[in-house]
Amino acid sequence: VVDIRKLYGQADVFTFDPGFTSTAACESAITFIDGDKGELWYRGYPIEQLADQSHFLEVCYLLLYGELPDKAMLEDFENRVTRHTMVHEQMHNFFRGFRRDAHPMATMVGVVGAMSAFYHDSTDINDEWQREVAAIRLIAKLPTIAAMAYKYSIGQPFVYPQNDLDYASNFLNMCFSVPAEKYKVDPALSKAMDRIFTLHADHEQNASTSTVRLAGSSGANPFACIAAGIACLWGPAHGGANQAALEMLKEIGTVDRIPEYIARAKDKSDPFKLMGFGHRVYKNFDPRAKVMKESADEVLDLLGIHNNPTLQVAKELEKIALEDDYFIEKKLYPNVDFYSGIILSAMGFPTSMFTPIFALSRTVGWIAQWKEMIGDPQTKIGRPRQLYVGPKRRDYVPVKSR
Ligand code: ACO
Repeated sequence: VVDIRKLYGQADVFTFDPGFTSTAACESAITFIDGDKGELWYRGYPIEQLADQSHFLEVCYLLLYGELPDKAMLEDFENRVTRHTMVHEQMHNFFRGFRRDAHPMATMVGVVGAMSAFYHDSTDINDEWQREVAAIRLIAKLPTIAAMAYKYSIGQPFVYPQNDLDYASNFLNMCFSVPAEKYKVDPALSKAMDRIFTLHADHEQNASTSTVRLAGSSGANPFACIAAGIACLWGPAHGGANQAALEMLKEIGTVDRIPEYIARAKDKSDPFKLMGFGHRVYKNFDPRAKVMKESADEVLDLLGIHNNPTLQVAKELEKIALEDDYFIEKKLYPNVDFYSGIILSAMGFPTSMFTPIFALSRTVGWIAQWKEMIGDPQTKIGRPRQLYVGPKRRDYVPVKSR
């Protein structure tokens, strides 16, 4: 607690908490994390059960409305999402305005921000129906937008969504189908993709979710808020870590080089960190990483990829780090990003698509949190304080006298 009256004569007392390590900015009933036990629940349901027994659109319903749907409710929800998967035809021109070599995240920030220009009939945050339509549009269109960003970056024609495919299969089809060849989505790969979406769906007040809430607290429309969340997610300390983790594993290359990288991660004069390790809240295993590790084994087996060198490096690195005093003392465990890149890469995605996939999965969490905030009578505009450390009051000196 800082009493800045003593410092600058201002009548103010507040807590100084860089990085918000111990400040709760809201109440929320959506997601619970016990960082010491390594537990994660969505609306009370453990993530392992949801990843194993549920599927992404059901999880979306749960996050948005608080309860698991019955059969009719789920069908209705799935129909509503499926009906909104197409994007406005004019948005194709918008994509074409970007450079071909743009990172798909750069394209996504722009295109999702522009949704408020294309869908301005769902930007009135005071209208419950418009809020609902915006939520459905975002969940439905994000896979289409991510796939279009990818197709554009590799110079292939856009692939339209298909209403007869489930959510994950539709995304895979939009990414990998080409007009000249018949592409058939493998149901096992689609299940693995769906599980990746589920594991990333929400994670309480992380940096991007807090960004969405902060943007929303000013009354900004939902599309603008989600675009802000995507921009925040991009950083390598957050959603960009899945790309960075795979690049690091490939750079290590062989198991014998692991000690060199472990030593670098421990050396405080070297800015290098083990990407995919450590978490602000988890001081035990990230439960999502456990599921992801099992999925990595399954997917590589399914694709007939045996002795994958990157997976070998990942497993050995995890083993060595977990026995190392530095990592034990600082409670650094693999996080969700450590294994996801291996699965996505085996599926055929380039590293640049890893964070867009995280963004499309997290969209439901962002929108659920945004809706919760809008409906909370305690909500005020987010306005952190600062500890001013600049010059004391002084008088301006004209340039000729300086
Ligand atoms: N490798 C080596 N040392 C690390 C690592 C790491 N991956 N992560 C943390 N440490 C060290 C820090 O240097 C610090 O050491 P110190 O006590 O000697 O100063 C200590 O552990 C505590 O770490 P902080 O960075 O203070 O922890 P914070 O909660 O601020 O950061 C973060 C968490 C950003 C995730 C960090 O662990 C990190 O950068 N990890 C690598 C990037 C990554 O995987 N990000 C994905 C997070 S999950 C997600 O967003 C989906």
